[in-house]
Amino acid sequence: MNVKIAVAAVLAVVMIAAFSIAADNPAEPGKGPEKLTITVEKKGDVKLPHRLHQETLKDCKVCHDVFPKKLGGINEMKAAGKLEKKQVMNKQCIKCHNEKKNAGAKSGPTTCTACHS
Ligand code: HEC
Ligand code: HEC
Ligand code: HEC
Repeated sequence: MNVKIAVAAVLAVVMIAAFSIAADNPAEPGKGPEKLTITVEKKGDVKLPHRLHQETLKDCKVCHDVFPKKLGGINEMKAAGKLEKKQVMNKQCIKCHNEKKNAGAKSGPTTCTACHS
């Protein structure tokens, strides 16, 4: 095999890998976006201030124990039947917001239209 072609192929793979990390977050790879949107058909998409939650909760697992660190991961799991519909909403988002609110702490939205646009 032509050595130059082999070297070029390896370089291309390295460059693609580097680019996909950069696309995630140039400053801090692996941290994910500052803000993101969860696609919810019919009811309306839900915006999540991701960085605010990372900084406030200081624990990735409260969310990512249930679904992967991957954009679109929730919908993929729901489509595959690995996650119940409304499970993330009821057992994570609203559950925590209610707990914080009841404890008199800063919290997030608990009404339908405040999350679904
Ligand atoms: C309040 C819940 C929550 C917390 C806490 C949280 N995340 Fe996420 N994260 C999400 C959601 C929701 C998504 C997108 C899932 C989807 O689109 O289906 C996501 C996506 C991601 C992605 C994917 C980005 C991409 O480009 O594919 C990364 C990386 C990530 N999170 C890292 C982290 C890290 C690291 C922490 C802890 C410091 C963390 N997250 C804490 C909810 C959370
Ligand atoms: C804190 C934000 C939040 C609030 C408040 C909220 N939702 Fe949701 N909802 C979500 C998220 C995130 C999803 C997608 C993940 C999931 O299905 O658990 C979702 C998904 C849904 C779905 C789609 C389920 C499916 O896959 O078919 C429906 C329907 C829905 N919500 C209705 C409601 C109604 C009705 C209310 C008010 C009683 C409400 N939501 C309040 C965040 C919220
Ligand atoms: C374990 C607790 C916890 C979970 C899980 C959680 N949140 Fe929150 N959320 C908070 C807290 C605490 C705040 C208030 C942060 C602040 O204002 O400093 C908040 C605030 C918010 C806000 C308002 C932000 C603003 O600028 O006022 C939105 C929107 C929100 N959350 C959406 C969601 C959605 C959607 C999910 C589920 C995917 C979710 N949250 C899961 C604790 C949680």
